[in-house]
Amino acid sequence: MRIGVLTGGGDAPGLNGVIRAIVRSATLKYGWTVIGIFDGFEGLLGKKNTKELKPWNTRGILSRGGTILGTTNRGNPFAVKVREKGKPTEKDLSDAAIGNIRKLRLDALVVIGGDGSLAIANRLFRKGVPVVGVPKTIDNDLSETHVTFGFTTAVETATEALDKLHTTAESHHRVMVVEVMGRYAGWIALEAGIAGSADVILIPEIPYGMDRVCRKIAERKQAHCCSSIVVVAEGARPLRGKMAVIERDPSGYAIRFSGAAAAVGDGIRQQTGMDVRVTVLGHVQRGGSPCAADRILATQYGVKAVELVFRKRFGHMVSYKPPEITSVPIGKAVRKIKLVDPDSEMVRAAESIGVSFGR
Ligand code: F6P
Repeated sequence: MRIGVLTGGGDAPGLNGVIRAIVRSATLKYGWTVIGIFDGFEGLLGKKNTKELKPWNTRGILSRGGTILGTTNRGNPFAVKVREKGKPTEKDLSDAAIGNIRKLRLDALVVIGGDGSLAIANRLFRKGVPVVGVPKTIDNDLSETHVTFGFTTAVETATEALDKLHTTAESHHRVMVVEVMGRYAGWIALEAGIAGSADVILIPEIPYGMDRVCRKIAERKQAHCCSSIVVVAEGARPLRGKMAVIERDPSGYAIRFSGAAAAVGDGIRQQTGMDVRVTVLGHVQRGGSPCAADRILATQYGVKAVELVFRKRFGHMVSYKPPEITSVPIGKAVRKIKLVDPDSEMVRAAESIGVSFGR
């Protein structure tokens, strides 16, 4: 057997752990050949960009962030940006990609990606490519899996930043507004906010009232807590307001956010008169070494992906349904994203200890 592996979409800590586990289990357990495809689906288009992966050339990567295969969140073989007669347009080059998969003599393709890459993987599967998916995203917004690798590391990184901001906020009696990633989902904000003892957590799933946020900060000031920490998910939006989206893909799906925390910071400054500073954590949350939990999850996901290939469970994605690592049809997993339930126990627990969600 020859299996291809690619990483697509935004990187996440743990990608290298999945690659390493795939290579080790495919070669050591089954005696297969593993071909790494560079830069996501782009490596299957144009000039093919591949390399045979072996245990010796994937050694020492478990603790490394990023992906040794490179990635892109723009390369979709079903909608490749080209110029025709001088004008930019999109072309379906999926048949060319499938032709290259055949030329590479791949018996299976493992796609490690988030909802976008897995949706592409599913379309390739429907066109006859034997595909297996591995869920990845720091946003933790993939349904049909309890958690994606990379999420826990991102929460750790954001929590560490909040711990640091507490001390400077206290010293200067300031309000620190911190923006974290997550797109449409508030998982990073919610979990880092709780772990980093935030006073206010604003998530896309619970539109906030600016007056309620400010009331919370004013109450704290009255109680002689002159500093506050406000965690804002990049997709958080005010009641009757919009998400701070600055770029969408052709289907209307938001791919870049900017300005959610700045808007909250301005509102707090205007309504309370307090000294406010805004920190946007950005891609720091995606970088660096995966935490132990993500290394373990990545290893289990990689091993399971190879097992799915062995059992010919094509069109399926590895899924973590505690305590089991199992699989689900990719089509089912990409149908809808997983959002925070505003009435979940985690949200209620946070509210019970005085955290405001601005509602
Ligand atoms: O999906 C992961 C993610 O980091 C989001 O949280 C964020 O909105 C987006 O990717 C950023 O994408 P880019 O790397 O293209 O700036």
